[in-house]
Amino acid sequence: MTITTCIFDAYGTLFDVSAAAREAAQEPGYEALVDTWPKVASDWRLKQLQYTWLRAITKEHTDFWQVTQDGLDWALEASGLSDPKLRERLLQLYWELSAYPEVPAMLQALKDKGLNTAILSNGEPKMLQAAIDSAGIGDVLDDCLSVEDVGIFKPDSRVYDLVLKRFNCQPAEVLFASSNGWDAAGATGFGFQTVWVNRAKEPVDRLPHHPQHLLSDLTDIPALTDS
Ligand code: LAC
Repeated sequence: MTITTCIFDAYGTLFDVSAAAREAAQEPGYEALVDTWPKVASDWRLKQLQYTWLRAITKEHTDFWQVTQDGLDWALEASGLSDPKLRERLLQLYWELSAYPEVPAMLQALKDKGLNTAILSNGEPKMLQAAIDSAGIGDVLDDCLSVEDVGIFKPDSRVYDLVLKRFNCQPAEVLFASSNGWDAAGATGFGFQTVWVNRAKEPVDRLPHHPQHLLSDLTDIPALTDS
């Protein structure tokens, strides 16, 4: 079926989630991060995601800003870093994440082709708007859909269904791109056409559904929409 709508995961897909720890490590006062930032960034991301899955399973939803703080607290303690100023700085940087370099031109190319474009994210709406503003991509996105409208995290099907309601379309008209293998798998099971953006060169997730397309970044997304 012809693609009419291109939907993107936010964190790790459009926005570089490692940037907060990497950038803080270069600032005066945070020398403790110089050697540890890759572990802090990776523990932070992993715990943040684990907490989303666990809160969905136990039906104890809270918003993504809370699990982002909870994940960071775990990661800082795991690396023996207990500086409240560092915690504040890392959280502040999470609101100003940069987009990956190919993102603005890729979204512009989709708009030039007349396609719908939107974010579908676990993110809390104000966090997402801040990241969109700081990356300067608001003009090439038609919307930003948040799990807060359904009160449960991905990969619950109610999240993917937000796209069908917003754009009044069929699942097979949607191309969904995520750098999270489990998110691309969930969206494939929902019926979207899917792209796994495997930036980190990870093995494929052993889950019931496998994405149709595999890319190393988002540059070739517009070519995938040619029918
Ligand atoms: C999101 C997370 C999963 O943006 O990256 O939904």
